[in-house]
Formats: sequence, C-alpha cells, structure tokens
Amino acid sequence: MAGKEVAVLWLLAVLGSVSGGKVLVWPVDNSHWLNMEYVLKELVARGHEVTVLLPSCFLILNATDHSPFRFEVVEVPISKKEMAATLDESFYFWFYEERELPLWKRIYRVIQLLSKLEAVTKTICDGVLRDKMLMERLKASAFDVLVADPLVPSGELFAEMLGIPFVYTIRFSLGNTVERLCGGLPAPPSYVPAILSRLTDKMSFTERLYNIISYFLQDLTYHHLFWRNWDQYYSEVLGRPTTLCETMGKAEIWLIRTYWDFEFPRPFLPNFEFVGGLHCQPAKPLPKEMEEFVQSSGEHGVVVFSLGSMVYNLTDEKSNVIARALSQLPQKVLWRYKGKKPEALGSNTRTYDWIPQNDLLGHPLTKAFITHGGTNGIYEAIYHGIPLVGIPMFADQHDNIAHMRAKGAAVELDFGTLKTEDLVDAVNTVINNSSYKENALRLSKIHHDQPITPLDRAVFWIEFVMRHKGAKHLRPAAHHLTWYQYHCLDVLAFLFTCAAIAVFILVKCCLFCCRKRGRIAKRKKE
Ligand SMILES: *[C@@H]1O[C@H](CO)[C@@H](O)[C@H](O)[C@H]1NC(C)=O
Ligand SMILES: *[C@@H]1O[C@H](CO)[C@@H](O)[C@H](O)[C@H]1NC(C)=O
Ligand SMILES: *[C@@H]1O[C@H](CO)[C@@H](O)[C@H](O)[C@H]1NC(C)=O
Ligand SMILES: *[C@@H]1O[C@H](CO)[C@@H](O)[C@H](O)[C@H]1NC(C)=O
Repeated sequence: MAGKEVAVLWLLAVLGSVSGGKVLVWPVDNSHWLNMEYVLKELVARGHEVTVLLPSCFLILNATDHSPFRFEVVEVPISKKEMAATLDESFYFWFYEERELPLWKRIYRVIQLLSKLEAVTKTICDGVLRDKMLMERLKASAFDVLVADPLVPSGELFAEMLGIPFVYTIRFSLGNTVERLCGGLPAPPSYVPAILSRLTDKMSFTERLYNIISYFLQDLTYHHLFWRNWDQYYSEVLGRPTTLCETMGKAEIWLIRTYWDFEFPRPFLPNFEFVGGLHCQPAKPLPKEMEEFVQSSGEHGVVVFSLGSMVYNLTDEKSNVIARALSQLPQKVLWRYKGKKPEALGSNTRTYDWIPQNDLLGHPLTKAFITHGGTNGIYEAIYHGIPLVGIPMFADQHDNIAHMRAKGAAVELDFGTLKTEDLVDAVNTVINNSSYKENALRLSKIHHDQPITPLDRAVFWIEFVMRHKGAKHLRPAAHHLTWYQYHCLDVLAFLFTCAAIAVFILVKCCLFCCRKRGRIAKRKKE
C-alpha cells in the first residue's frame, strides 16, 4: 500500500475515533426504557459506543450478545421476581385500590409503596457503589457523557462520582416538580398548571388558587418526604453536605418528551429541549391477518383500543361494559387486551396480546384511538392525526388527556363510572363530529413542521455535551441563588423598609410641625 493511502486511512481512523464518543446509560425499568432506547440506538447508528449499566433485577431487558449496546451488569441482591412483585404492587394500588380506599388509608399506602420503591432503588444504587472493581472499570473507560432518567435517583450520583457530564431524558417527573425545583424551570402558577391538577393554561380565580396550593403542597412533599433520605445518602456518598435536588440540577441538558403540539406555551430555559414524539415513525405494513381484518371494515374504518402495557386484566364487569360498547360501534375494533375474553365481545371486535400501535394508528382506515393517555400513545396519535377517546387511569394520564381535550382532539371518560352508553357516545362523537379530526390533523401538521426532527435534536444535544464536555453556557445563574434571592424578596424587603422609614419620618415631621403650629396659635390666642 502506498504511504499516502496509509496516511489517509490512519487519518480516517483517528477522525472516526474522535466522532465516536462513549456513552454510559443509567436506565429506568419499564416503559421508560423503551423511550430511551430510541435515542440510544440512534447514537449507536452514528458511531458512538453505548454502555448500559444494567442492574441484574431489571425486567425490561437482558444483557444479550446481539444487542447494539454493551452491558455492565450490576449484581444486586434483588431477584427479578421480587422486582416484578414490587412494581406489580404499586401498579395494583394505582389501578384498583386508589379509587376505593378512604383518603387516610390511601395516603398511608402511597407512603408505604414509595418507601418500598426507595429501598429497592437504594439497594440497586449500593450495588453499583459497593462494587469497587466496577467503579474502577467505569472510571478507566473515560465516558464522555451519562444519559439518565430522573424518575429514579442515582444516575446523577454516578455521573458526579465519575466526573462526567450528564443529560436527562425525562417523560414525566411527577408534575414538572423535578424540572421546576431542581432544573430551575420557571412555572408561573397563573398559567402553568401544576401536575396532577388536571387544569389547563386558562384558569379561573378558584382554579388559580387551587393551582398555587397544589404547587405549594407538592414542593413540601418533595423536599420533606420524598427527598429527605436521599439528601442524607448523597451527602454521605459524596462526602460533603448536598441534596439530591442540587445534584440533579447539575444536568447539562434536559430532554423533555413533549412539544408545543401537546404542551401549553410556557417559559423555558436554554438547556431544555422539547423532543416529544421522537419515537414516532411512518406506519409500516400490518401483519397479514390484521390487515385483512382492518380491510374488512369497509367505509366505517377501525377503532384502535389500548389501555397500555400494564393493564392486563379488568374485572369481568368492566370488561363486559367495554365489550358491549365496542359491539355497538359500526367500526371494527382492535383491542389490546391480555385478560379473560369478555362474554359480551362483539363480532366486530378482536382482542390481541400486543398490537403494532404506531402502524395501526398510521393506517388510513383508522378513525379513532381509545387510550389510557400515556405519552407514547398520545404522541403516536398526534403524529398520525387521530382523534382520541381518553380513559385516564393514574399518574400523568389525567393531565395528558386534559391537554388533548383543551386542544379539541379528545373526549374524556371516567374509568370508575364508565357505562356502555358513555363509551359508545364518546367514540361516535369523535368520529361523527369532524372538529375532532380537524384538530388532530392540525396538531399533526404542527408536529411534522419542525426544522429538525425531535430524534435528531435529542441526539444533537447529547453529542454537543460530548464535544464540549458539558453545556455550562446554557446554565442559568438561578442555581446559585437561594429561594428568597430568586424571588428578590430580600430586595423587596429592603425597599419596603426604606419606604416604611421614609413614611415614619414624614409622619413624625408632620406631627412635629402641627404641634408647633398649634402651640404658636395657642400662644397668640393667649
Ligand atoms: C430475560 O431473560 C429471562 C430469563 O432468561 C426471560 O424470562 C425474560 O423474558 C428475558 N427478558 C427480556 C426482556 O428479554
Ligand atoms: C388481575 O391479575 C392479578 C394477578 O394475576 C390478580 O391478583 C388480580 O386479582 C386480577 N384482578 C382482577 C380484577 O381480575
Ligand atoms: C354517528 O354515526 C354513526 C354511524 O357512523 C351513527 O350510528 C350514529 O347515530 C351517529 N351519531 C350521531 C350523534 O350523529
Ligand atoms: C362538535 O364538537 C365541538 C366541540 O365539542 C362543538 O363545539 C360543536 O358544536 C360540535 N358540532 C356538532 C355538529 O355537534
């Protein structure tokens, strides 16, 4: 080989290794992983090396050879079975018990479940920190960036200990609380609804009052209930007084899984990127049997129905209410449902353990989507311009449906009191009344009309952080202020004191003058 060619090859190799960064990932179990995976796969496709720090108890993925990612398995003293049981218990609570228990019992159960989840997370975190060999290996690997989901603490702690910048990808942080309290995201309570409030950006006086109280209560709960133990843990591990929130606030970039097609306009910071819908893709062809069923619907089209991956069984009564409603629709229905087949299931309805949801929503014959209101499904509906019937269950789902309803693309139903006629009416409304379809298409157009796709933007910012070893130039100085400095309360107090002193002196002077004049007048009279 000629010397020149070798030099070129060598140059290419060097350039290649510069562009190929090393990414460390701290995943969160369940559907949150599915979200993150899209970004990670794209990073691999662009020549980066992605290493997933995988606790041995994780359910959603196994360390396999044919994965595009490398794995560092962390042995933890929790079995997959125990992990599944813990997650199931929480889910069972939100799904069945939450509606039925009296308030004090509900609060007690929430605290009980959260401390259980916290214990599991701490055990996993300990598993990483105690494994000295692993930590040494990670340090020696010299990663360029850590990607984490702030739903569960620990990622930011590892990044801090390894001395590498970190990026958050976040789908739902229990009510923009983490972004607001730790990321410094401004949220004026007059028009930014608090999470779980089910409010929109247009609020009456009483709604604003409710909103401000919600913010206040959430702040208290987070600082004094959820985060207290973690603050202590982080201080011990890092060997200096710190808090979980302070450590989280060091995130270079926050990739938020929504966009202005779904969000109400609100203030944000330069280190926040809204990348909602990055997992959406044009529809691929359906499996043959499914395509035949869809085609058999003729002019009426089909309705897609899914309550998410976590709802695998309903009570017999509920599933029959739903099945009866579906059987009265002129459309064909594809229902993702793993539970026992309800007796009232109509001939127009088929149940499936799993459906290719994105491909179905992108099918030209699909007329409506009945959903629990998870962000992934909502984004697939926005992407393809499909109107929704929302049956929210728990967590952020009520808020998500409230957003879509405010945008005129959804009708909302209450799962607890759901009747057959309600469901029939709701589906007929979003299909017969064209305003729902028009609004859904409008959102879809907004979603598609972006200079760079959400996935490219997400990957760009992770690469940016790798190239520049952070994104400190986007970090607001708000992080260095105390809460009273942030709101300028100290300045206001100073100004108020000045004004008070001025008024005091003025009043004193007046009184003095009046008294003097009074005395002179008195003397004159005498
Ligand atoms: C991981 O492996 C276990 C046991 O080998 C298997 O039961 C489970 O289904 C696998 N999980 C995934 C997500 O592949
Ligand atoms: C759903 O399934 C779980 C576990 O399989 C079971 O414990 C529960 O009783 C079932 N719930 C209903 C409503 O059938
Ligand atoms: C909506 O259309 C269906 C047929 O597509 C019809 O059966 C139903 O009565 C209509 N509902 C309303 C309110 O117009
Ligand atoms: C369609 O729905 C919109 C929004 O709910 C409503 O304002 C409008 O009156 C409805 N149109 C018809 C024909 O029912």
